[in-house]
Amino acid sequence: MKIAVLGTGYVGLSTGVCLSEIGHHVMCIDIDEQKINKLRQGISPIYEPGLESLLSKNNAAGTLQFTTSHQEGIKNAEIIIIAVGTPQGDDGSADLSFLVQAAKDISPLLKHDAIVVIKSTVPVGTNDLVKSIISSHTNTPFKMVSNPEFLRQGSAIKDTMKADRIIIGAEDSAAALKIKEMYRPLNVPILMTNVRSAEMIKYASNAFLATKISFINEVANLCEAVGANIIDVANGMGKDKRIGEAFLQAGIGYGGSCFPKDVKALLHTAGLHGVNFSLLKETIAINDAQQKLLFTKARIRLNQLKDKKIAMLGLSFKPETDDMREAPSIKIARLLSQEKAKVVAYDPVAKENARRILGDTIEYARSVDEAVENADAVFIVTEWSEFKQLDLSEVTKQMKQPIIFDGRNCFNEDQIRACSKIEYYPVGKPSIVIGLE
Ligand code: UGA
Repeated sequence: MKIAVLGTGYVGLSTGVCLSEIGHHVMCIDIDEQKINKLRQGISPIYEPGLESLLSKNNAAGTLQFTTSHQEGIKNAEIIIIAVGTPQGDDGSADLSFLVQAAKDISPLLKHDAIVVIKSTVPVGTNDLVKSIISSHTNTPFKMVSNPEFLRQGSAIKDTMKADRIIIGAEDSAAALKIKEMYRPLNVPILMTNVRSAEMIKYASNAFLATKISFINEVANLCEAVGANIIDVANGMGKDKRIGEAFLQAGIGYGGSCFPKDVKALLHTAGLHGVNFSLLKETIAINDAQQKLLFTKARIRLNQLKDKKIAMLGLSFKPETDDMREAPSIKIARLLSQEKAKVVAYDPVAKENARRILGDTIEYARSVDEAVENADAVFIVTEWSEFKQLDLSEVTKQMKQPIIFDGRNCFNEDQIRACSKIEYYPVGKPSIVIGLE
């Protein structure tokens, strides 16, 4: 099939690359000329495991092309997938301006009976809005399909190729069947719904997962207070199939470009319709507090943070990505800087993106060793495998004081007990102090 994908962010690019990989002819469109030039050379503008090899392979084969021209991209497309960003607006609602612009841009260029697919995360009713915008700009008949995306950053290709499910929301059954056919080579479960249900499935899924994280984080805080161990508790809970093991990792809260904004957007939608979804307010409040957890613990332990060297290991909102959006590291770095601590951070890939946000309020190390050298405390902020493999007895020897606040529970008790001198503060587990008065 001939497919155009509008927007080459995480969702658009991963979708375009995967659709070309399963045999379709894909034209990716983006207004960012620099990005398109890179993509044409087979270079991915984002760090995403497995993306660049599929990108260059299909690009070289001619089945995956890139353009800044809507005219060139849309004119032959049977299916146009809109995957532009829907960032958070000032009032917590989703900002639909990119989407509205995209609808206007493609309207005059649509082929007869083209199918416009909305993959961007959009509040319930947005497909209807886009339909009316396009209809007011063209007389060419077209169909609308809602097809929300569930891929995660860091595993975008795997999540797309082996999706748990694909949701197709449509009023027109022929259009729905065509999109089903487009995905057939993936051989994954496909669920057909109406448009509004499809839109709601996306928000309800993200809000549920965010709530699961806030729930387990609050249980972790309680575990600390009562002397229980969150790893065992989550394991025991997760074995119940009704609960499930996924997304029960306690830590310093969720970040990223999706959960924070989508929970707020769903709360906003609920408010507009007179539904008091107070559970989501708690999900947000717990997450805000959890992102400050390491700072709060360090202030209690170190008392005065002024002039203390804090080594921050990890900046990105999760491992395997250089994305800094809503990363807990931002909040932590700002709180530490306010207290005049000296923050030296190391991240395997997110340094440049972090610098754009935090500037020179913190220092950026080139290695773990450089960050931890003479540090008064280490904060483990992102669970990169590089950090999980660290030998803590070596790390602590380089520090001024061997104090570790582990926000992602990267180490087990045996690894800590192998150190001759350490103060180790995990999340939701008993702290361990060895070799110190
Ligand atoms: C999330 C969803 O998982 C995807 O299904 C969805 O498609 C995507 O949002 C989106 O709407 O585009 P993503 O933001 O890439 O994906 O990352 P996740 O792996 O879900 O992690 C989100 C945050 O939750 C991270 O900060 C992570 O550290 C945190 N997390 C996750 C936990 O604290 N504990 C867990 O057990 C799992």
